[in-house]
Amino acid sequence: MQLYQTKNYEEMSKKAAGIISAQVILKPDSVLGLATGSTPLGIYENLIDGYKNGDIDFTQVKTVNLDEYKGLGSENKQSYRHFMNSNLFDHVNINKENTNVPNGLEENIEFECDRYDNVLNDLAGVDLQLLGIGNNGHIGFNEPADSFTKGTHYEALAQSTIDANSRLFEECEVMPTSAYTMGIKTIMDAKTVLLVANGKGKAKAIKEALTGPITPKVPASILQMHKNLIVVADEEALSELNNNK
Ligand code: PGA
Repeated sequence: MQLYQTKNYEEMSKKAAGIISAQVILKPDSVLGLATGSTPLGIYENLIDGYKNGDIDFTQVKTVNLDEYKGLGSENKQSYRHFMNSNLFDHVNINKENTNVPNGLEENIEFECDRYDNVLNDLAGVDLQLLGIGNNGHIGFNEPADSFTKGTHYEALAQSTIDANSRLFEECEVMPTSAYTMGIKTIMDAKTVLLVANGKGKAKAIKEALTGPITPKVPASILQMHKNLIVVADEEALSELNNNK
């Protein structure tokens, strides 16, 4: 594992964006696994700047996102497809046809999970998977469970996730309580995993994920087994880990 400690969120975002840029510069047709949530927003801003400065070219890049709320489509501003379009894809020279997010509007769970796994198979492997981490140690929407998941599946969200994410929904909006998510095995199959975290709220999850027992009760703990894990986290997110030394 390569661990980068940064002073704050801005530095975390810059460092992680630099790693993604390096990936794309070295392999212009990279398959990037992307994440949503508040953590990657600064990374995407840096990538957009990199594109505008002429440092990064997305024309050959393909992307595959971790997850999508069940019941939300691209028109809904809370959907992860909408998030990706408005926070990254609309601002860089990526071909939208090369971007993939599970279809939250697909009612047939088996169909959608198979379809997304086929998309992943056709891409022949994710080069770099960007991951945030939930307060409860989830990655994607793989919630604490009795066993590790494999491929794309339907997941009922944990109450802690609903509590954490409901802050992003307005009063008049109904937050979905389930999602489609990439499985743990698919995440582990990525050639490089880039885990990012900031803030005190993530300190316990980061400590458990990186130094605790490997258990599906803390889904991110499986990342200890990944042969090319890069962690970029700020001082606050690493505070419990550092106390542990
Ligand atoms: P956040 O979510 O970036 O909004 O904190 C991370 C996650 O739940 O994976």
